[in-house]
Amino acid sequence: MITRVEALGFRCLRRVSQPMDGFHVLIGPNASGKTTFLDVVAFLGDLVSGGLEKAVGERTANFQDLTWRREGERFELAIEARILVELRGRLENPAFDTVQYEVTLGLESREVRFETETLTLCTTGSRGPGASLSAVPDPVVAQQILSRCHRRFEPSVKSPCLANKRALMRSQVPVM
Ligand SMILES: Nc1ncnc2c1ncn2[C@@H]1O[C@H](COP(=O)(O)OP(=O)(O)OP(=O)(O)O)[C@@H](O)[C@H]1O
Ligand SMILES: [Mg+2]
Repeated sequence: MITRVEALGFRCLRRVSQPMDGFHVLIGPNASGKTTFLDVVAFLGDLVSGGLEKAVGERTANFQDLTWRREGERFELAIEARILVELRGRLENPAFDTVQYEVTLGLESREVRFETETLTLCTTGSRGPGASLSAVPDPVVAQQILSRCHRRFEPSVKSPCLANKRALMRSQVPVM
């Protein structure tokens, strides 16, 4: 089950960090960003299953169409999901019950690139969604996911800058 969706500078979504539960209704006026919000999940799915060029190319020929107000040169998307019990048995450490996947995509010499790509496993424990007790990159899971789109897992420590930005997003009301 998806437990959080985040977007920073993606199309009309300037800064969104939305916790998710079992049931949600998405309501808003026309052009308020409902479809764009749903496309965060679809985009990340396309990215993982088909790769960067496909995910971007299916949406636009101009990368800047995907940045907030078509002004920026990058955007960030993140998703957090609870791992199914039957899949947890495949992890090196089955205590992890939550996976977070986040990417920053940007332009470099007019080419669309991954600026960051992070896959993290977390244990939420008994304190409810978002109460992260521990988080480490899991090389086995990361390689399984990334190999589907022919990329190699590079173990890395999450940059403090990105972690701070996410903490900031979570402390603020969603802004569209
Ligand atoms: N790069 C961008 N920066 C800012 N706004 C954008 C960008 N790309 C598209 N938009 C605008 O985002 C708005 C939201 O569109 P979206 O389709 O997500 O709304 P919606 O709530 O699904 O509308 P509807 O109810 O008509 O389906 C549109 O007005 C669109 O012009
Ligand atoms: Mg719509």
